[in-house]
Amino acid sequence: MLEWLASTIPLWKALHVTALCVWCGGLITLPLMLTRHDPAISQNDYRLIRHATHLTYTIVVTPAAVIAVVAGTWLIFLREAFVPWLFAKLVFVALLLVLHAWIGSSIVRIAEEPGDHKPPNPSLPVTGITGCAIAILLLVLAKPELDWIAFPDWLTEPRGGQLPFAVPNR
Ligand code: HEM
Repeated sequence: MLEWLASTIPLWKALHVTALCVWCGGLITLPLMLTRHDPAISQNDYRLIRHATHLTYTIVVTPAAVIAVVAGTWLIFLREAFVPWLFAKLVFVALLLVLHAWIGSSIVRIAEEPGDHKPPNPSLPVTGITGCAIAILLLVLAKPELDWIAFPDWLTEPRGGQLPFAVPNR
């Protein structure tokens, strides 16, 4: 690998860790903020709280998720981390993204169905997010071999297949 490219790894890692702190912190905070959406409070307060959750989700938490995923994807290639612990980590990252979408859908429904939509009990998303984050941290920091997982040949060996279109000769 080019030397200058390898020297950027600490920067990508710093960006990755900073963004995921904001992402996971935001995902834990948002369900707690959603519990404040009580239609019994004054309309003005309800509007303020709704704007706060909407803005936190759209301009802080979602961009942080995108930055964490983009920086993480760069790190896969820069660190050449094509190993089982990374694939196991990605399973938990996928779960984290499902929880992210669930919280987002609740925020949208609160805006579109005021008084009708009840946000989820915060203990559910908060437990899911903390559980995923702890599992990811254990995998990424311990980097277990996980060599007992047998990957099928079609995932580990080139299949010698042809592209579905002709590549012109140069
Ligand atoms: C699509 C999403 C993600 C991808 C592709 C990804 C990928 C990576 C890669 C390749 C590394 C470098 C590992 C190494 O240097 O050996 C890394 C580092 C790290 N990742 Fe992720 N990651 C993602 C999301 C997350 C999330 C959601 C968390 C935590 C909740 C996380 C926590 C960390 C930590 C703490 C490190 C530093 C580990 C170290 O330097 O030893 N990552 N990530």
